[in-house]
Amino acid sequence: MKGIILAGGKGTRLYPMTKVVSKQLLPLYDKPMIYYPLSILLLAGIHEVLVISTPDDTPLYEQLLGDGTRIGISISYKVQDTPRGLADAFILGADFIGDDSVCLILGDNIFYGHSMTTVLRHSMRDLDGATVFGYPVKKPKAFGVVEFDENYNVLSIEEKPEKPKSNFAVPGLYFYDNRVVGIAKNVKPSERGEIEITSINNAYLEMGKLKVSLLGRGTAWLDTGTPQGMLKAAEYVEAIQSRQGYYVSCIEEIAWRRGFISAEQLLTLGKELETTDYGKYIISLAEEALSK
Ligand code: G1P
Repeated sequence: MKGIILAGGKGTRLYPMTKVVSKQLLPLYDKPMIYYPLSILLLAGIHEVLVISTPDDTPLYEQLLGDGTRIGISISYKVQDTPRGLADAFILGADFIGDDSVCLILGDNIFYGHSMTTVLRHSMRDLDGATVFGYPVKKPKAFGVVEFDENYNVLSIEEKPEKPKSNFAVPGLYFYDNRVVGIAKNVKPSERGEIEITSINNAYLEMGKLKVSLLGRGTAWLDTGTPQGMLKAAEYVEAIQSRQGYYVSCIEEIAWRRGFISAEQLLTLGKELETTDYGKYIISLAEEALSK
C-alpha cells in the first residue's frame, strides 16, 4: 500500500501565521506538523510516501524530509499548482499509486491513541473498496459526516451538512483500493468549486464498498484548524510527553520500531539533534537497544 500526505492549501484560516509558510510546516509543540501524519503512515507500515504541496512549499518539504532514506523509507513529492480539492491527490498521485491501494492522510490531521496501530492494521488487511473513520465530535457540521446503522453499514456521508445526520465526523485519514484513481478523475466540483473527498466516498457507497470504522474514545483526533486548536493540540502533546517520557510522533523512533532502520542508524539521527530533548530521547532509545 502507498501513502499520500496532502499538505497543500493556503491555510487562510491561520493567517498571518501561514502567509509565507505552509500550515503543515508550522511547529506543533516540538516538531513540524507534518511529522504527525507521517508517523501514522509509518505506524501503518507504509514505506512509500508521496507528499503533495504548493509550488512554493514543496521545496521546503524536500529540505525537511529528503527522499526518506534517512528513516528507511521512500518519500517523493508532487506539486499541486492550485488547491482543487482533496480528491485531486489521486489524480496528481496516479502514477505514484500505480496498481496499488492507497492511504490518504491530510497533513494537518493529528491522531494519537493506544489503539491506533491496531485500527490501521485492520483497515489495511480487510480493505475491499474504501474505509473511512468515524469520530464523535460536538460540532459535526464543520466536517464530512458519516451516518451508519447498528452493524456499521454506512447510510450516508455528507460534506459539511447544515443538518448533520450523526455526530460522527470523518477525519482526514482514508484507505482506498486502486479504483480510487478512476473515480477521482470523474468527480465533479462541488458548490465551493472543489473536487471533494466526500464525492469519492459517495461513489464507493453507491457501489456498496464503503466501510466505516470508529475511532474510540481513547483516541485523540486533534484540531489544528485555528490558533486555539493548535495551542491545545500542542499542550496535549506536551502533557503526554512530559508525563510518560514517550514521544508522540517521533518519526525516527517509529521507523526504528517498524524495522525500517537499525539502532545504529537511529543513534546517528539522534546525534544530529543532540542539543534538543527530542534528539536526546532518540539517543537514549538507541543506546538502550545497542546495550542489550
Ligand atoms: C476536509 C474534508 C472533510 C473532513 C476534514 C477532516 O475538510 O473535506 O470531509 O472531515 O477535511 O479534517 P477541510 O478541512 O478541507 O474543510
